[in-house]
Amino acid sequence: MAENNKQTNSGLASQVTIEGVIYYHMPINIAIKYAKKITSGFFIPLSETKRVRIHLEDGDISEKMLNYQSKGLESILLAEEDYYEFVKKIKHGLIGFFLNDTDEIKYLDIEQMLGLVKRVTLYIGLDPKTIELSEEIARKTLVQIKTVSIIAEPLRTFQKENQNEFLKNLMVCYSAIGLIEALNWSTPQIKEKIAQVCLFCDITLTSEDYTEMILVGNDVSKFSKRILDHPITASNLVGKTRNAVSNEAALAIRQHHELPDGSGYPKGIKGLTINQLSAVQIIARTFIDALVESDFAYEDRKSFIKSMLEKFNYPNFAQPCKALYILMGLEPETHKKEY
Ligand SMILES: [Fe+2]
Repeated sequence: MAENNKQTNSGLASQVTIEGVIYYHMPINIAIKYAKKITSGFFIPLSETKRVRIHLEDGDISEKMLNYQSKGLESILLAEEDYYEFVKKIKHGLIGFFLNDTDEIKYLDIEQMLGLVKRVTLYIGLDPKTIELSEEIARKTLVQIKTVSIIAEPLRTFQKENQNEFLKNLMVCYSAIGLIEALNWSTPQIKEKIAQVCLFCDITLTSEDYTEMILVGNDVSKFSKRILDHPITASNLVGKTRNAVSNEAALAIRQHHELPDGSGYPKGIKGLTINQLSAVQIIARTFIDALVESDFAYEDRKSFIKSMLEKFNYPNFAQPCKALYILMGLEPETHKKEY
């Protein structure tokens, strides 16, 4: 319900009142990116007092917004209700896409989520055996943590409030387990550790944090300290469980947003100083993100891997990156099969 989402967005949603109705500024680049999810008319603010009303029936709104953007306009004005609906639809994009139902928000229980993840990972090309094994490990990880309230409670909240992100983390988990298999690091412990990393790495992030990330277009330089610190807060939390989560998984959680060129966060550490488990999770996540962002452009998988190989050209990252070809059952672009 809208009430839940009507919390502060760190001042991002500055408001104006037009004829007694509250309107919020939505960055125009976000409005263009998710134009298909805009289902109501809106205003383009030309100045403090001048604005143009855009009606959906007037034709291609993306084109109109692109035109205004090229003239330097930075936001559109959405009526309060429409604003929250829009944000909600973006946040439910993954479920909307796969359940073929973009209008109505669906809330899934864990079994429905696991069922959806199975469908999606099969669709993107994971081997059925890998999916079966990953589901088993994910279930085991979720069951084991049930009695550890320090993790179980925030995880339950996360799963309920950020179900899109929870689903994505499950998809990352299955892909990461598949990469570990492809790399032949096949000890069960490593797969359990990577599952813990993928499923617990974001549990301190809230629905408002994700709204904020959407509204700044995922630009890390605009993230709040809370968001930038989430790898540390999540790592500290799992560190308090003593034996339930391994030290290595806690370390990997701490580093799950670092990047080998030093442009990651929170510490900006580089290359080989980044833990190998973090590297696997980062590779799996970047790949899944590319698929989600492109509305599952299945046929572009090779080009995603190719550009990732350029970006992640560091020993501990290149190996899992190349293993993406094996995970997806694709022929590598080059014939150098050194993995
Ligand atoms: Fe994260």
